[in-house]
Amino acid sequence: MSGASELIVKRIRDGSVIDHIPAGRSLLVLKILGIKGDEGYRVALVMNVESRKIGRKDILKIEGRYISDSEASMITLIAPEATLNIVKNYRVVHKVRLKPPSMVRGIVKCPNSMCVSNNDPEAQPVFTLEKTDSREPSFRCIYCETRLTGSDALTELYG
Ligand code: CTP
Ligand code: ZN
Repeated sequence: MSGASELIVKRIRDGSVIDHIPAGRSLLVLKILGIKGDEGYRVALVMNVESRKIGRKDILKIEGRYISDSEASMITLIAPEATLNIVKNYRVVHKVRLKPPSMVRGIVKCPNSMCVSNNDPEAQPVFTLEKTDSREPSFRCIYCETRLTGSDALTELYG
């Protein structure tokens, strides 16, 4: 644990810590997880702190909510190096380096504006995993086979 971030936000008792998020992307991680703030969870968001591993990073701490590996896998779209820590009674009881999901459903739109998923309100966007590279996984649209990369997802989520 790097000392700098410890000074900013204290350790949590029970919940989830998503660590090693590329600097500045923790808001997008919350968006992918569907956490808006009105659910009532205590959320600590740490942005742009020093990391021994990746230069600068963000950390997200969500108290009282245990995020599953599969739920968290969706964030590999924009944070492929992130780790999920499950904390119980102040201890990290589960730590995983996240793996990309085999399927991404309904989180981001297809980059191809002509795609049926962008034109038929009943067709939700679905992508299957194409390449598992921890640096950047990529996906393909099941309708039009357009590739979806992390930077496509970022563009869309920032919008
Ligand atoms: N953490 C927390 N509350 C706890 C325990 C841990 O908020 N009760 C946070 C730490 O601040 C850290 C992350 O969970 O951001 C992982 O904790 P730990 O495994 O102790 O840190 P490191 O060994 O530095 O983890 P890594 O090797 O994954 O960098
Ligand atoms: Zn498509």
